[in-house]
This record gives sequence, C-alpha cells and structure tokens, in this order.
Amino acid sequence: MSRDRYAVIGNPVAHSKSPEIHAAFAAQTGQALDYERVLAPLDGFAATVQDLVASGFRGCNVTVPFKLEAFALAGRLTPRARAAGAVNTLSFQDGEIVGDNTDGIGLVTDIVRNAGTPLKGRRVLLLGAGGAARGALLPMLEQRPTLLVIANRTRAKAERLAAEFGGQGAVRASEFETLDTPFDVIVNATSASLDDALPPLAPAVFASGALAYDMMYAKEPTVFLRFAADHGARTRDGLGMLVEQAAESFFIWRGVRPDTAPVHANLLAGLRQS
Ligand code: ATR
Repeated sequence: MSRDRYAVIGNPVAHSKSPEIHAAFAAQTGQALDYERVLAPLDGFAATVQDLVASGFRGCNVTVPFKLEAFALAGRLTPRARAAGAVNTLSFQDGEIVGDNTDGIGLVTDIVRNAGTPLKGRRVLLLGAGGAARGALLPMLEQRPTLLVIANRTRAKAERLAAEFGGQGAVRASEFETLDTPFDVIVNATSASLDDALPPLAPAVFASGALAYDMMYAKEPTVFLRFAADHGARTRDGLGMLVEQAAESFFIWRGVRPDTAPVHANLLAGLRQS
C-alpha cells in the first residue's frame, strides 16, 4: 500500500519540528504517511507547491516566510484562515488547494485544555498586533471572553485590528504604558522575545492566578515569562501551541485526533537536553 505524503515548506526549514511531531502522531494513530521538510526558494513558493501537487502529495504545512503567499495561493479558504489573513495548512483535494490556519486554535486549545484556563467570561490581554496576534483573534473571541484588549507598541495597528474584529466580541485597543487593570490571561504575540525584549507592562496587569502565555518558546523561559512569574503569574510557552496546531492540521488531513500530551513531553525533554 502506498503511503500518503505530506511536507512542511519554509525557508529556512531545517529547524522545523513538524516532521518529528507528525511522525509521532502517525505512529500513535496507526496512520500510514510520510512527512518531510521541503526548502522552497524565496521566490519559488507557488512553484514548489505545484510540484508537490503534481507528485501526489496530499497536503503541507507552511512556515516562515510563506504564510501570506499560501493565503494568496489557496483556491478556497476556511473562515479562520480568512480571519487570520495567513495560511499554515494546505490540503490538496481533487485538484483544489484549500487553505486553513490552525495556529490560533492551537493556541486556544493549549490555554483552555492543556493549561486548564478558560477564556470564557475572562479578561484577556493580547500583546502585539502583527500576524501572530491577528491569527489568534478569531479563535480567542469565539471563546467569549468578557473583554479582549489588544495592546501594541504602535497603537494605530492595535486600533485597526480592534475595529476589524469588533463585530466578534468586546475588543479594545491600547498602548502598553497605560494598562493598569488586571487580566486573567495575558498572551505575548509580539516578536519582542526574539530580541530578549520586554513590552513595558505594569505588574498590575497580572490578576491573581493569571496565566501568562508566550507564543515563543526556547530552552530557557523568555524574558516576558520571567517577568510574569516574578509577579505571581502562572506561565506557559509556545511549545504547546506548536504541538496543538500540528494536531489540528493532522485532524484536517486524516480525520483523527492524536494524543498531544506525550508528544509535547518528548519535545520538552529534547529541548531541555539541547
Ligand atoms: P509576527 O508575524 O511574529 O506577528 P509581525 O507581523 O512583524 O510578526 O509583528 C511583530 C509584532 O511584535 C508587532 O506587534 C510589533 O510591534 P509594532 O507593531 O509596534 O512594530 C511587536 N514587536 C516587535 N518587537 C517588539 C518590541 N521590542 N517591543 C514590543 N513590541 C514589539
């Protein structure tokens, strides 16, 4: 029996943990599939996808820097991909390329289920107004928080996102400096952690028992998570989101939901040893 083929496309792509994650999901669920890394030239994303389609691949994940091109390339988009303005999961179905985005739902699943922290009826603070923040907005608002504040260094970008998503729930925009009320869940969707930088937040934003979540992950806690822990918050990094977005892609392609906990535990152990 021939095995179904999938890939992750990026540039660079050597660092991607997706092959390891999907291989673990396939082994666990008994799905016969292969999942490989594909390096696309920076000016050759669409051609690379067409090659995969012609070779009989069933779908692919898309990572940096191609998520906007994948959005443009897809012949059909799911509502959450349209809201995100970016695509991380392509399915090749009967000659059609369908684009979805599982990043936001991966984040929400990791917060709600794995960290045991409901968003419903809670006050949520989203730091950042770039692509990562945009991708999180619809899935978070679908959980019905009482209020979601988008805070960004460039306030105008937060205002634009708040206006765009205002029909989906109670959304407000802010700068960092004026935030002085407590939030139950604080998600860092800025890329500041990459530069070891910390958005200028007052400790008052962390409510008692708050969860601070950084979409980034690294061997050591990010500067944001260290700051949050110093002010009493529970903390969680983006490794769980990575595994959950992969699980959602796996479900889209295979119709089967893998058990993410052992895969997360293995990745964490590998990261600590690195
Ligand atoms: P991504 O796809 O990772 O979201 P992006 O679209 O370039 O990347 O967005 C980066 C986000 O991180 C933006 O919200 C950016 O703030 P600005 O809109 O003001 O540029 C935010 N960001 C990056 N570095 C930051 C820093 N050192 N402090 C605070 N915010 C930062």
